[in-house]
Amino acid sequence: MIRYEEQEKAFYLDNGRITYCFGIVKGQYLESRYFGRKIRRCRGSARPWYFDRGFCSNPDPEDKIFSLDTLPQEYPCMNQGDFRQPAFVLQTPDGRRVSRLVYRDYTILPGKPPLAGLPAVYAEQPGEAETLAVRLEDRVSGAQVRLYYTIFRDYDAICRHVEVENPGNESLWLERLMAMSLDLPRRDYDLVTLSGSHLQEKMPHRRPVSSDTVLLESSRGASSPQQTPCVILTDPNTDEASGQVWAVNFIYSGDFQATVQAGQYGGVRVQMGMNPLTFGWELAPGQRFVSPECVLVYSAEGLNGMSGVFHRLYRQRLCRGLWRDRLRPVLLNSWEAFLFSIDEEKCLALAKQAAELGIELFVLDDGWFRNRIDDRRALGDWTEDPDKFPHGLARLADQVRAAGVAFGIWFEPEMVSYDSDLYRSHPDWIIRSPACDPILSRYQLVLDLSRPEVCDYLVESVARVLRRTGASYVKWDMNRHITDLGSAWLPAGRQRELSHRYMLGLYRVLDQLTGQFPEVLFEGCSSGGGRFDAGMLYYMPQTWASDNTDAVCRMQIQYGTSLLFPPVTMGSHVSAVPNHQTGRTTPLSTRFAVAMAGNLGYEMDIRTLSEEDRAELRQQIARYKALRQTLQQGSFYRLLDPCRGNDAAWNFVSQDGSQVIVCQYRVSADPLRRTTAVPLQGLDPEAVYRRQSDGALFGGDELMYAGLSDHPVRQDFTSLVTVLDRVEA
Ligand code: DGJ
Repeated sequence: MIRYEEQEKAFYLDNGRITYCFGIVKGQYLESRYFGRKIRRCRGSARPWYFDRGFCSNPDPEDKIFSLDTLPQEYPCMNQGDFRQPAFVLQTPDGRRVSRLVYRDYTILPGKPPLAGLPAVYAEQPGEAETLAVRLEDRVSGAQVRLYYTIFRDYDAICRHVEVENPGNESLWLERLMAMSLDLPRRDYDLVTLSGSHLQEKMPHRRPVSSDTVLLESSRGASSPQQTPCVILTDPNTDEASGQVWAVNFIYSGDFQATVQAGQYGGVRVQMGMNPLTFGWELAPGQRFVSPECVLVYSAEGLNGMSGVFHRLYRQRLCRGLWRDRLRPVLLNSWEAFLFSIDEEKCLALAKQAAELGIELFVLDDGWFRNRIDDRRALGDWTEDPDKFPHGLARLADQVRAAGVAFGIWFEPEMVSYDSDLYRSHPDWIIRSPACDPILSRYQLVLDLSRPEVCDYLVESVARVLRRTGASYVKWDMNRHITDLGSAWLPAGRQRELSHRYMLGLYRVLDQLTGQFPEVLFEGCSSGGGRFDAGMLYYMPQTWASDNTDAVCRMQIQYGTSLLFPPVTMGSHVSAVPNHQTGRTTPLSTRFAVAMAGNLGYEMDIRTLSEEDRAELRQQIARYKALRQTLQQGSFYRLLDPCRGNDAAWNFVSQDGSQVIVCQYRVSADPLRRTTAVPLQGLDPEAVYRRQSDGALFGGDELMYAGLSDHPVRQDFTSLVTVLDRVEA
């Protein structure tokens, strides 16, 4: 899949469907040449026309036409005459930041080597992937920079990351390090980003690329609900079903920066990597820095084509462990039912009723540990509260299981409250500056995970509870962002490493815990989808998508989230009405129809349900179980965008193509009771499908090209779920 063409001085990564090509110019510079649909050769038909331009610097004094400022570059550095965004800024002991990165050599490796201590896409068999490592050298500092590129046989994606090594005798300092940089040739792209907020995560925003630089970033200590480390460029006419897409996503859960910069003479530069605002790294002699990796996806089949690649890659080669391929349980979470006011009796009653309804897992959320009567206290002390659980959590867990449901439990391990034994005994374990009081958020402080003993404490505290209770599910929460970046552990010269070291510490903790408890299903959470990113999915194969469980808002959140992440990774619950966050009352059927398009759960006091609602829940859960394989492991296609209109729709197709599930939603009732016919995607046009509800037969071609109508109901917030089974013609 990877070859070097000596005549063209070009590297080709090609899996028969996509081609990525870059070359060596003047024996030393790496020129971006092509990324897109497979082509046989890239001989330069689209290369920009070079000539002597004003203000262009010329690294070759004999060649006034050649300038790095106009060359599409593969990995540009600073102070070398390319005044666009550099991917690499290194400070030398003399305080200068001048580099001369030049090409040295390359190696081609079978498979995909792991990234030490970091989440990454993996290959299970060597033949699945091939990796190219290109070595550059900084002539000024001697630093060795290796650019890694992996191409996959079965996924139209390229993974890129960078490693920098200091072979010298003096320290060097990384000031800016992008995991990837790519110069695309044209200007007429649309840019799609996923920004948002707590309760409104991953809202798609689309606009044309203009002459300015767009900067996306988080310096919050988490990938954040505000921005997603993701850049999507499309042709202007690309839609869900057709058109070209180039997308980049960072497999990282901490601070990041991504830029999209239009070049003055054309072309667009896309970069993604560490956020220079909170990143700096001392490379001591002999040390190596490994950047997290980016996934680059190309699709010629619109945004759904792009999502299809991300979904399959992340489901099959990013998520790991026993739960990667297992069907996920229907759960009931105690949070919205009880908040902090939980106890043994309530939990048991809830679990028993859950079992009767067909729910498979009871999750004990926040409030179970000693002194945790509200959010002002007790984080860090992971011992059960004897007042709420006089017979102990182990007994509760046993009783829950005896009632017929599995037992799961909530933690927020990265945090500590002032009012906790942990803080009282280790005040130096928090992130802060000694010069001032740390800023609080939800009354809590952040533990310094750059400190190995803090990580060890977390592993042991969580493991102890898991061993005692035999819990088979963990909800791993994180409810504040990081301020006061300072560590009592790190020396002054390494304080700027804290943000990344925090993530490395967290990844180590998660690696150890998931290794020790392979049977446990971990679900990530950060006040909802505040850290719903590809990095977390490597350790925890699902994430609570949002604290906003309102069905109308959730349509939008899940729609946006699905651009990158498959439905099986999205925790989505049916909750009580009026909704806790919006006060809106939506029908139970619609709450279910939205929640079933992810990992179904319930988050309400089911003890108070009417008999009618209880019967409906029982039916919903049975229906979900019957459809779960298609919903969790099938392909997902967005059809109608709820952010743009009154209707939303998506459909699922089972792995073997035998079942199609169509979900259609309407927000406000239409007085004229018009129907919306939505063309389905991913079906076999030649096949015939039978609608389960009435046995009607439709051709795949008709369903895809004419569409499927919803039903005209005189009500707001309606939904229709249609199941179609493929029949033998
Ligand atoms: C925030 C989460 O998103 C909620 O689901 C819940 O677990 C609370 N934290 C508990 O404090």
